[in-house]
Amino acid sequence: MPAPLTAEAAARPDTPAAPDAPAIECSSLVRIYRTEKLEVQALQGLDLRVEQGEFMALVGASGSGKSTLLGILSGLDAPSAGSVRVAGRELAGLTRKERLVYRRETVGFVWQSPPRNLLPQLTALENVALPQTYTGTGRRARRTRALDLLETMGVDYCRDRTPGQMSGGEQQRVAIAVALANSPAVLLADEPTGELDSDSARTVLAALRIASTEHNVTTLIVTHDEGVSAQVRRTVAIRDGRTATETLRPSAGRDDRRGTDDEAQGEHEAFEYAVIDRSGRLQLPPEFTEPLGIRDLVRLTREPGHIGVWPDRGSSEGAEEQKAASPEGTATAVNAASTTEESEA
Ligand SMILES: Nc1ncnc2c1ncn2[C@@H]1O[C@H](COP(=O)(O)OP(=O)(O)OP(=O)(O)O)[C@@H](O)[C@H]1O
Ligand SMILES: [Mg+2]
Repeated sequence: MPAPLTAEAAARPDTPAAPDAPAIECSSLVRIYRTEKLEVQALQGLDLRVEQGEFMALVGASGSGKSTLLGILSGLDAPSAGSVRVAGRELAGLTRKERLVYRRETVGFVWQSPPRNLLPQLTALENVALPQTYTGTGRRARRTRALDLLETMGVDYCRDRTPGQMSGGEQQRVAIAVALANSPAVLLADEPTGELDSDSARTVLAALRIASTEHNVTTLIVTHDEGVSAQVRRTVAIRDGRTATETLRPSAGRDDRRGTDDEAQGEHEAFEYAVIDRSGRLQLPPEFTEPLGIRDLVRLTREPGHIGVWPDRGSSEGAEEQKAASPEGTATAVNAASTTEESEA
């Protein structure tokens, strides 16, 4: 049943997403933090596309810009430049009021620290019911939905407990229920298992999967936890404020998500792709470049079906020596055709 039209809902721009529009689309996203003394470019022209219904991970070294991106996607922060659309809505130009409605209705978020996600004086049931008051949902409907969500997350037994009476993993599962309360299009989680032991981390990951499948929410999880990134179909790596590589695990897709067969899923073969941005820029991962001493400049050669990337040894003989030494024939081979087609598939 549609929620009654509140004043805030009426303020929402009328831009329904096309059925096949991506859930998230960032183009050339820039975020510069300026303080008196220095300027940090946390996002440096980041491109990211996430399809509706995807369950994916975002990884990257500390300081690479992951939380900055999530802050923008969650509507807490605004980009310095570039475009970011979520569920068909451009966020860059939202007014404060529209941003508030967006945060209440279009995105749900789960932060790393369990206490940050829940109000300490409220029970689990009250925490899940609370966001629904902002959308004008009636008291009984709020309670029914809250109970349903707690049950789906496997924490209905915590309904009358306050956060202080729950474990970290239980609090995170209640937090997912809170995030889902207003049926968001997108669920964002910033290191949701970062403070949990491995057993609790597994139950929270399983709960996120359930959120994604049963509630049809596009889910983006920032993680350092290889246990998480090994179990999603697509992992995007950010390096220096840009998307750098993508790892696809074809078998860890939507159809075999059950939350209990995680180890088995992690064994499937993964393919790593480098991301080419709109200007044709490509980041080469250090595990490819360092062994070959590649830095500053590389020489590119056109090869049949792929591109050769050669250390700059100042002469073509250098390239020939490398070619002879490498069984693949190139230092780093980019199969242009398959990379672009498969990463878009
Ligand atoms: N409010 C801020 N003011 C100034 N600089 C900031 C601010 N927030 C983040 N930064 C800087 O922006 C860059 C990206 O930070 P961000 O928090 O997005 O990284 P992260 O990938 O989430 O790292 P971590 O894995 O440690 O959480 C870092 O250099 C950080 O120091
Ligand atoms: Mg962070």
